[in-house]
Amino acid sequence: MTIQEELKATIEDLVQPAKGILAADESSPTIAKRFKAVGVESTEATRRAYRSIIFSTPDLGDHISGVILYEETLEQLSLDDISIPKLLASQGIVPGIKVDQGKGPLVNAPGDEITYGLDGLATRLEHYKSLGARFAKWRDVFHISGTLPSFQAIKSNAEVLARYAAVCQAMGIVPIVEPEVLIDGNHSMERAAEVSEDVLLEVFKALHRHRVHLEHIILKPSMVTPGKASGKATPEQVAEATLSVFRRVVPAAVPGIVFLSGGQTPEESTENLNALNSLGRQPWELSFSYGRALQEPAQKAWAGKLDNARAAQAALHKRARLNGLARCGEYSPAMENDA
Ligand code: 13P
Repeated sequence: MTIQEELKATIEDLVQPAKGILAADESSPTIAKRFKAVGVESTEATRRAYRSIIFSTPDLGDHISGVILYEETLEQLSLDDISIPKLLASQGIVPGIKVDQGKGPLVNAPGDEITYGLDGLATRLEHYKSLGARFAKWRDVFHISGTLPSFQAIKSNAEVLARYAAVCQAMGIVPIVEPEVLIDGNHSMERAAEVSEDVLLEVFKALHRHRVHLEHIILKPSMVTPGKASGKATPEQVAEATLSVFRRVVPAAVPGIVFLSGGQTPEESTENLNALNSLGRQPWELSFSYGRALQEPAQKAWAGKLDNARAAQAALHKRARLNGLARCGEYSPAMENDA
């Protein structure tokens, strides 16, 4: 298979009707925060147990086409001693890997951040690929205020995101391109729309500069919403605002857009995705790549106890199924009360 054929096959496996992506790539500090919220200490053993339980969810592959893993998990064995990428592949799920190495302050741009991880990326990707990873993820983060993000932050982060995507494609790995515009703050929906448009425009300019094949990327953006401290917009308003920005700046060659949940509740993110898919056909498939919105109920049900494995799996399966319906515009909030 040529590299182009390999990328095409992975896109076809990831962008499937009624399916989305599970983001289970929390770094060690982030998963420690999530576990703490349900009274569990984060250790290598608890992370392995939890992730093994959720990835073994019966029929997870009916609604989930890919899972993004953290480096540690890619090399771990399940509780039944099967390698995690093999366990996922046996469910018909494509294993992927987070490859950015976090973020830190952008010098001379107070309040802005830049994502790290380009050094040695090709060598790491080669290793991840040998362990079964077929796609990757890199997250840029943009804070919103009256003045943030600066043009300097938008441009520098777009540049590293495009360089990452180019390296991935050269290695036959599909890049998920994630420019996250944070929901934190008291900004308006109009301000979020303005920042999202600026960010996406620069991301696609940089992707073009680096000759990235848009047909072989997946975009993972934030929905356009008001800041968390500014109250909520209706799902219809979120869908209209998001699509009007995307129509201006996301080329039709991009096969799939998978939204992050970014601090929306599980129900809210499902309702918003459903509204996005209720506005008729778009040039791109609109799906999900949720972390918290898929896993929160499962983590609560698990609470660190093996005896709760089935309850945790049922909670994850429910969210995956409902988001699978929302991806087709067939969800209604009344379904939350079904078993
Ligand atoms: P959330 O859905 O919890 O925002 O996580 C998605 C993700 O992968 C962030 O990088």
